[in-house]
Amino acid sequence: MNSEKLKIAILGGTGNIGEGMVLRLALQNLMAEGVKNDVIIGSRSREAAEDAAKRALSELENCGFDTSRISITGSSNLEAAQAAEIVILTIRFDHVLPLLNEINEALENKILITPVVPMAKDGDLFVYKPPTEGSAALAIQKNVPPSTKVVAAFHNIPAGKLKDIVKCKAVHDALVCSDDAEAKKLVMKLTEHMGCLKPLDGGPLKQASTMESLTPLLVNLAKLNRLKDLGINFS
Ligand SMILES: NC(=O)c1ccc[n+]([C@@H]2O[C@H](COP(=O)([O-])OP(=O)(O)OC[C@H]3O[C@@H](n4cnc5c(N)ncnc54)[C@H](OP(=O)(O)O)[C@@H]3O)[C@@H](O)[C@H]2O)c1
Repeated sequence: MNSEKLKIAILGGTGNIGEGMVLRLALQNLMAEGVKNDVIIGSRSREAAEDAAKRALSELENCGFDTSRISITGSSNLEAAQAAEIVILTIRFDHVLPLLNEINEALENKILITPVVPMAKDGDLFVYKPPTEGSAALAIQKNVPPSTKVVAAFHNIPAGKLKDIVKCKAVHDALVCSDDAEAKKLVMKLTEHMGCLKPLDGGPLKQASTMESLTPLLVNLAKLNRLKDLGINFS
């Protein structure tokens, strides 16, 4: 796989963190030398995906970026997964397993990135609520073909900071876990090219539960302390 020219599908890319991912991955074509990402937004509705692609392109244009070197298109979740080499699951955990069932064959030999955090309300706050496998990442691995390389990443990155492509210069640490060394390396490179993230190797996929469990802490800290879009910096 040529790591500089990639088709990347963002399933549920019409949503909150999906929108930020779309903008940041598309912008890499202008910011990182030699990179050419074709970004495909996936949705349950092709029309919603096409509209989201148009919105993303006009936002980039309004911010003064040259969109002639940027590729963002919209499609159904299945067609997006079929077309891509890398698939990112930006949907809530409750919807993940039914979607994986629908797109299973399309995931053969692909890299599948999960930022998915299973959490539940506990009064006014959130708690981590992993499935019996121990984490969303391990449940996802169990439900995809053995040839799919699952990479857990972006759990602790607030959507607001990803979407704020003009003002947000803050750099947060972004932990990446996988059992596949090559896939992890490629995702760490994509992460670095986001411009606002510092990738850190988080170890094998079984470590994903520790990463996933930090997100409710960030959300609760933001709420309790009237802060917004908290991220993590370990150093
Ligand atoms: N938001 C954050 O800051 C953040 C940070 C780190 C990790 N995450 C993780 O990223 C994932 C997405 O979070 P989000 O806040 O972006 O979610 P979201 O905006 O609520 O939803 C994302 C997308 O999910 C799709 N969707 C809704 N119901 C569905 C269903 N029944 N089946 C299939 N797709 C469905 C929708 O797309 P269509 O209607 O177009 O199909 C929607 O745009 C979550 O797992 C979350 O834990 C989020």
